Parts: sequence; structure tokens; C-alpha cells
Amino acid sequence: MRTMKLGSSNLEVPVVAVGCMRINSLEKKEAERFVQTALEHGANFFDHADIYGKGDCEEIFADAIHMSPTVRENIILQSKCGIRKGMFDFSKEHILQSVDGILQRLNTEYLDTLLLHRPDALVEPEEVAEAFDILEQSGKVRHFGVSNQNPMQIQLLQKYVKQPIVANQLQLSITNANMISNGINVNMENDSAINRDGSILDFCRLHDITIQPWSPFQFGFFEGVFLGNDKFPELNQQIDEIADKYQVSNTTIAIAWLLRHPANMQPVIGTMNVDRLIDCIKASDVYLTREEWYSIYRAAGNILP
Ligand SMILES: NC(=O)c1ccc[n+]([C@@H]2O[C@H](COP(=O)([O-])OP(=O)(O)OC[C@H]3O[C@@H](n4cnc5c(N)ncnc54)[C@H](OP(=O)(O)O)[C@@H]3O)[C@@H](O)[C@H]2O)c1
Repeated sequence: MRTMKLGSSNLEVPVVAVGCMRINSLEKKEAERFVQTALEHGANFFDHADIYGKGDCEEIFADAIHMSPTVRENIILQSKCGIRKGMFDFSKEHILQSVDGILQRLNTEYLDTLLLHRPDALVEPEEVAEAFDILEQSGKVRHFGVSNQNPMQIQLLQKYVKQPIVANQLQLSITNANMISNGINVNMENDSAINRDGSILDFCRLHDITIQPWSPFQFGFFEGVFLGNDKFPELNQQIDEIADKYQVSNTTIAIAWLLRHPANMQPVIGTMNVDRLIDCIKASDVYLTREEWYSIYRAAGNILP
């Protein structure tokens, strides 16, 4: 699979990341086969969060990959913290405790990347900075990032945090593409012009922050998968035609659409099906034309002014 640098760091990562939020839906043998297949195809970047399966997903993953120092050297591990029942918590104490729990469950001594999962209204960036310094100096975390944050929130953090924010994980798919469509519809009196995220896409490009699109196959907030879905006939027809042309599946085209964007995004896929996993990885070799990219954009109902 193609690789790229994560944000402004020197960490070389595959362009497609494997999300592990759903790994607790697999039996032990299936989970082993899933992670082995990923590794065989160069997909060695795994995305976790302390809350996935209430911690079970990290443990299941570590078992499935037979974590050992040698295995660890050949994979890239990212996890997230900051979501608690009924609240968000970026306090120094919570961040430090969370990382210790994550490392224990993943059976590793360090994370390549730690992301703050969802903005905490009560964030005190000075505390985050202290936590990040401790984590970096102790060798527990090598790179830092955020998730679901807007430009001002990142700038506020970055005023205090000395480590560069290298990634921002955001919901983005062909059918949830406001971050793209608001830039196309600037200044228009239509709903697509509504800028819900403070131009996060351009901000991340300007500051060398890798956008990691999460839920690249979902529409709405976990309402379902748009591929093969009767709610999106025009989109599916368009994707299927392009898939035929490239002799790949519709799954491959949905990821290729994200990879075609020049922001150098790293989609985080959530499938637990090995065939679909391989189809997602194949997207790394498909480069859509400008006409194809825009035809998929429009077929999803996204508008041009
Ligand atoms: N930062 C955040 O706030 C946040 C939020 C949510 C998720 N995430 C991360 O993003 C990752 C991906 O999220 P997600 O699982 O919602 O993403 P997704 O890839 O959009 O959805 C995957 C789900 O769709 C199903 N699916 C059905 N048909 C499919 C097809 N043709 N192609 C692909 N999948 C199909 C999969 O089932 P099969 O397994 O049967 O293929 C699986 O249940 C998570 O694992 C997690 O790491 C982050």
C-alpha cells in the first residue's frame, strides 16, 4: 500500500488506517485472520480508542495480533482518550490514567499516536500540555493529535502544547461531505454554504495536519452504509460505473474518492470483513480523474453553485 508522512511528523504511515472499533464483533480466530490479512497487505496502522467495547477492543486486538516486541516494531498504534460516561475529560489526570490503561490493554510500552477524542468544554490547555510533556518524556506516546476538533480549538491547544498536532480525525464520507461542500459553496445562499466546522479542511492543509476521515461508508450518524443502499440510487449507479471501468469493487471507489482529495487524508475504515478490507486497501492504487471525483460528489446530492 502507498504510504505518506503523518502530519508534520516523520512517521511513515499507510494511506488507509484500520479502525478497530468493531473488532469485538469477531470470534478469536476471525480476529486473528483479520489482523494477519491487514498486515499481509501493508495495512499496519491500527486505530483504537479506550472506549471501544469498553476497552475490550484493544485487548482483543492485542491477543489477535499476538503482541510481542517484534510484532510491535512492525505496526503503528493509535488510540484515543477523553470520552467518559456523560462527559468529556481532557484533565491531566484523566489523560495520564487513560494512557496507562490503553498501554496495558494493548500490551505495549508506547503509542505511536494519541488523539484527544471529542472536544471537552472544560479543557484547560495548560493541563493538556503538562500531560503531553509527561507522556512524551516517559516514552509512552510519540505523537499527538485530536479528533472532531475545529480550527480554533486546535489553535487554543497549540498555544500551550509544544508537540505538533499531527492528525485530526473527523467524520467524512461521500454522503457526509459538508467539510468539502461548504468550501465549494462559499458565500452562496444555500445550506451547503453553512460552514459547520470553521473551514477545518483548509486549516488542516495549511498546518500539515492529516485528516483521518472516520466512518467513510456511513451516511448520517451511523444510520447505515450508503453503498448498495436504495436511498442513494444515483450515487450507487455512478460509483458502480466507475468501479466497472477500473475493474474494482464499489468499496474501493468509495475510499479512492477520499484519497483523491489533495489534502492527503488517511481514511479510517471500519469493516471487519477481510474481502472488504482488501478492497479498501486496493483504493491506494486507484487515482480518480477530476471528472469522476466531481461526478461522485454530485451524484450523492452535493451541490455546485
Ligand atoms: N474519532 C471518532 O469520533 C470516531 C467515531 C467513529 C469511528 N471512528 C473510527 O473509525 C473507524 C471506522 O468507523 P466505522 O466502522 O463507522 O466506518 P465504516 O467503514 O464507514 O463502517 C463499517 C461498517 O459498515 C459495514 N459495511 C457494510 N457494507 C460495507 C461495504 N460495502 N464496505 C465497507 N463497510 C461496509 C461494515 O460491515 P462489515 O464489517 O461486514 O464489512 C461495518 O459494520 C472505527 O473503527 C474507529 O476506529 C472514530
